[in-house]
Amino acid sequence: MTSLQSESGTPVAASRVDLSTEIPSPGGPLRLAHPIMPASGTFGYGEEFEPFVDPAVFSAIIGKSISRERRTGNPPPRTIETPAGMLNSIGLQNPGLDAFVESYLPRMAQYGVPVIVNTVGRTLEDYVELTRVLDVEPAVAGFELNISCPNVNEGLQFGLDPEATRALVAAVRAETKLPIIAKLTPNVTDIGEQAVAAEEGGADCISVINTLVGMSVDWRKRGSRLGRATGGLSGPAIRPVALRMVWQASQAVSVPICGIGGITRPEHVLEFLVVGASTVQVGTHLFRDPACLTRWLDEIRDLAHDEGLERLSDLVGTFEAAG
Ligand SMILES: Cc1cc2nc3c(=O)[nH]c(=O)nc-3n(C[C@H](O)[C@H](O)[C@H](O)COP(=O)(O)O)c2cc1C
Repeated sequence: MTSLQSESGTPVAASRVDLSTEIPSPGGPLRLAHPIMPASGTFGYGEEFEPFVDPAVFSAIIGKSISRERRTGNPPPRTIETPAGMLNSIGLQNPGLDAFVESYLPRMAQYGVPVIVNTVGRTLEDYVELTRVLDVEPAVAGFELNISCPNVNEGLQFGLDPEATRALVAAVRAETKLPIIAKLTPNVTDIGEQAVAAEEGGADCISVINTLVGMSVDWRKRGSRLGRATGGLSGPAIRPVALRMVWQASQAVSVPICGIGGITRPEHVLEFLVVGASTVQVGTHLFRDPACLTRWLDEIRDLAHDEGLERLSDLVGTFEAAG
C-alpha cells in the first residue's frame, strides 16, 4: 500500500480514507460509516444473510418493502435469469406492519447499524399510517418510500405522476422528522421532473432506480416465463440506465442521491458517486456474492487512496460532461 502526502505534509494511509457520509433530515443528519447499503428486496430483513456476512457490514439496513397488510405476492415462477441480470415478479410479499414491528424490527435493531424501513402502500393513507406507526419505534432511523414497484398493479401509480409524488411525500413528511428517501422508478421519460417533485414534497434523499419493466417470453407456451406477463429487470444490464438517471436526477435537485442499479464491483460504487450519488445500494449482486462488502470497503479505500482522495465524498458529482 502506498502512502500519499496530505495537505499538512503527513502521509495518509489508505485505511485513513474517510468513507463516511450522511443523509440530512429535519431531525438531524443520519450519519453513515460509508455509502453502501443493501437494496430493498434483495436482503430480506437481514436474517437470511447472517450465515454469510454480518449485516452490520452495511452502513444501514434496508429491508424488503413493508405494507400495512400482510401480502403473499405473485404466483410462481417469480424470478428468472436474463442476460446480465434477472427479472423478478415477487409482488411485494411481506409479513405486514404488525408482524414487522413485533418480530423483524427487534432483530434488525440488534445489528447495530441504522435501520431504514422501505414502505409501500396502495393509497396515500397507507404510507401515512405506516410512517405514523414506525416513526415512534426507536429502532427506525429513516424511511425509503417505494413508489416505484412495477410488479403490482397499483405499484407505480404514485411514482409516475409528479403531482402524486409531491403530495405523497408531503403527507409522509408531516408524520416524521426522520430522513425520507423517495425511491423513484426508471419507467418514466423525465426522471428530473420526478426527483424535483419528491424534493418539493420534502424528501431528504432520492433513490434511483427501482427495476425496469421487462418480459421473458416462452414462444412455445405463447406466454411468460414468469407467473405474470411482466417483471422488473435488475442487475448489470440496467447499470448504464441507472448511471444516466442518477446523473440527471442529481442535476435536477439539491438533496443527496442514492444510486442503485447493477453494482457488482467496488469501481461501480465510485462510478455512481462521480455521476452524483452520495450513497448507493447493492441488490441483485448479493444473490451471487452476499459477503462482497467484507472485501469492497478495503478495495474502495485503496482505490480512493491511489487517486489521492482523503474523503470519498470528494468524488460526488465530479462528472465532467463531454460536449
Ligand atoms: C428479487 C427482488 C426484489 C425486490 N423487491 C423490492 C422491494 O420490495 N422494494 C423495493 O423498493 N425494491 C425492490 N427491488 C428493487 C431493488 O431494490 C433495486 O432497486 C433493483 O433491483 C436495482 O438494483 P440491482 O440492479 O442492484 O438489483 C427488488 C429487486 C429484486 C431483484
